[in-house]
Amino acid sequence: MTAPKRFLLAGVMGWPVMHSRSPMIHNYWFAQQGLAGTYVPLAIKPEGLAAALHALQPLGFSGCNITIPHKQEAMKIVDEIAPAAQKIGAISCVVAREDGSLSGSNNDAFGFIRNLKQTYPDWRADSGPVVVIGAGGGSRAVCYGLIQEGAREIRLVNRTLERARRVADEFGATLKAYAWDERNALLKGASTVVNTTSAGMVGQGALEIRLDHLEKHALAADIIYTPLETPFLAAARLRGNRTLNGLGMLLHQGPLAWKLWFGVEPTVTDELRALVERSL
Ligand code: ATR
Repeated sequence: MTAPKRFLLAGVMGWPVMHSRSPMIHNYWFAQQGLAGTYVPLAIKPEGLAAALHALQPLGFSGCNITIPHKQEAMKIVDEIAPAAQKIGAISCVVAREDGSLSGSNNDAFGFIRNLKQTYPDWRADSGPVVVIGAGGGSRAVCYGLIQEGAREIRLVNRTLERARRVADEFGATLKAYAWDERNALLKGASTVVNTTSAGMVGQGALEIRLDHLEKHALAADIIYTPLETPFLAAARLRGNRTLNGLGMLLHQGPLAWKLWFGVEPTVTDELRALVERSL
């Protein structure tokens, strides 16, 4: 990359946002790449989201990440939406173009799959049924990624069945919705099980699930990274199953955002992962 003409700027818009580990991650990459720039937490109230997004380009920001609670609202504000984000129904990344227009994308699915494949290179989406627990935005990104990877059967189970049914209707025949009381039995024969609910997060109760039917070879994944090991993952590990926490999903979507903002792709190093883990 030729020397940039200006100080590089990006950030994350959320409300609240101070808990976000994204500034730590992206500022590590500015140092790693030897580039002058910074990544800041942007505490944006819902009513200020449109003004904040439109201010990115005049302020010299290349773009920003979008986090809770703005991921859906931001879709209505940007000028263009990438096909994956359209299907998922949320954006996690905005690029502020030179002409002032804004484009939105969603890198959550990519981050989830990249992390999974990097951690377990022999993992295959089509090696058996996948159980996805939860039917919110995180679930939609995970299901999208799994389908792109060639998953043939996704068993989507959610506390509110109607919500799972809506996702199944939109995502097609690969995905089938199941009622909450079927969750334990659904694990039978599954090669992968992913928790996308907020149950198990710091300050919340554990995910209520019994793992008796979980096959020995099955991989248990969670998209939560606070704590790094949720009670669900701890229970799976104690049974001898392979596990994957949610931190890698966050780390691995970063390089894609960098490519869009700055034209370079930084790397997710063990040092970066350890740095973030220590802060949790
Ligand atoms: P996100 O967009 O981050 O995925 P969300 O849209 O609020 O968040 O979705 C949260 C998911 O966690 C939902 O699937 C929710 O189930 P409902 O659709 O029934 O609300 C699920 N969830 C939250 N708390 C839960 C709990 N204690 N047990 C089971 N599922 C829970």
